Amino acid sequence: MNTVRKSPFSFRPASQTIRRITHILAAVVVALAIGDVAVAQPGRGQGVGRGRGRGRGMSAEMREDMTTLHAMFAAREKITRTVKMLPKGAEATTESDDTKIVAMLKEHVPAMENRVHENEPLPPMTFHPVFVELIKHADDYTLTYKETKQGMEVTYEADDPFVIMLVQEHAKLVSRFLKNGMDEIHKPYTLPKVVHAKKDNHAAFSNGNLEYINPTIAKYGKVVKLPNAAQQPRNGSRIVVDLTQSGKPDALNPAIEKVARFVNIYQGAGKKPAKVDIAIVLHGDATLTVLNVDAYTKRHETKGNPNLDCLHKLHDAGVEIFVCGQSLIGKGGNPDDVVVFADVAVSALTSLVNLQADGYAYVPLGK
Ligand code: HEM
Repeated sequence: MNTVRKSPFSFRPASQTIRRITHILAAVVVALAIGDVAVAQPGRGQGVGRGRGRGRGMSAEMREDMTTLHAMFAAREKITRTVKMLPKGAEATTESDDTKIVAMLKEHVPAMENRVHENEPLPPMTFHPVFVELIKHADDYTLTYKETKQGMEVTYEADDPFVIMLVQEHAKLVSRFLKNGMDEIHKPYTLPKVVHAKKDNHAAFSNGNLEYINPTIAKYGKVVKLPNAAQQPRNGSRIVVDLTQSGKPDALNPAIEKVARFVNIYQGAGKKPAKVDIAIVLHGDATLTVLNVDAYTKRHETKGNPNLDCLHKLHDAGVEIFVCGQSLIGKGGNPDDVVVFADVAVSALTSLVNLQADGYAYVPLGK
């Protein structure tokens, strides 16, 4: 028996059997899929698909997955399924005496898990609320599956009440697919409402040790780990910090330290670290914080530039630092005096517009 855990690197088991069936069913599938493909056209789906799942045609992998689906639908009387709801999810066993169907089940589950995780939905997954929400919450539940001789044993687990409901609804939906066939996907369906029990905010703190930590940026921007709190850091977030706040010339600008906190939040304040892209755009009163030691010292009569250590650490952590060329010149600065790890941009305006167009969320840190 193999035990396979949910992972973003799921593989696709290649099976000769499946391939043979693929050929036989290809014509039927293409015909059946046409209606569904229309749903995947730009503007109709949820609009967040990447790569294989989007565009006009079907990729070979998509066709293969659709073929497996249709073949399972066609043979659904040969599939047995039991589902048990658990307090935090569901447990399902799906099996068949037919070895071809067993192979399909073993291919389908990891392939679909991968599609959910990689946000590469098959056409029917772009509109059914259960699949749409599963993709949105891919990081909020675990799917553990075990290959049995005759099929798959699957356990879903989640912490959030909405996500628990969601995985349970998915388990029920698969059972309805077996009972009612492909039509089930087009039946009107709304997700049940989840009534949130009164929030026990202490629970949010229960797994944290409530001590301040600096997971990435040492010394600056300490954070508390809150693994069970709401609004966990989301993988793939992008933030542009519009930094115009000034500070005392002989002390670290507090807004720069706040950016260190942002990095630490994403790297260690939540349940697990989340990948984040952060860019800072300095202008207005914050422009001159990026001057090198000589230029800054001359300008402010200080002993060095108190911002550089933190800015350097931010840069080492992958934060991009842009200074507005217009503000810099306007304030009598010289691009040659800007530290090497900051880039002079044409302007703060163009930086902010470009970065927001690239999907960065705008976070202002002004006075
Ligand atoms: C005869 C029809 C089908 C069968 C027998 C079947 C079987 C399964 C099984 C056994 C699982 C593992 C979870 C569980 O047991 O509840 C699963 C998961 C899944 N299936 Fe199907 N399925 C069918 C139809 C579909 C359809 C029509 C779609 C949508 C295009 C689909 C997409 C998925 C997705 C997205 C997952 C979840 C992966 C995850 O949560 O990471 N399935 N299916």
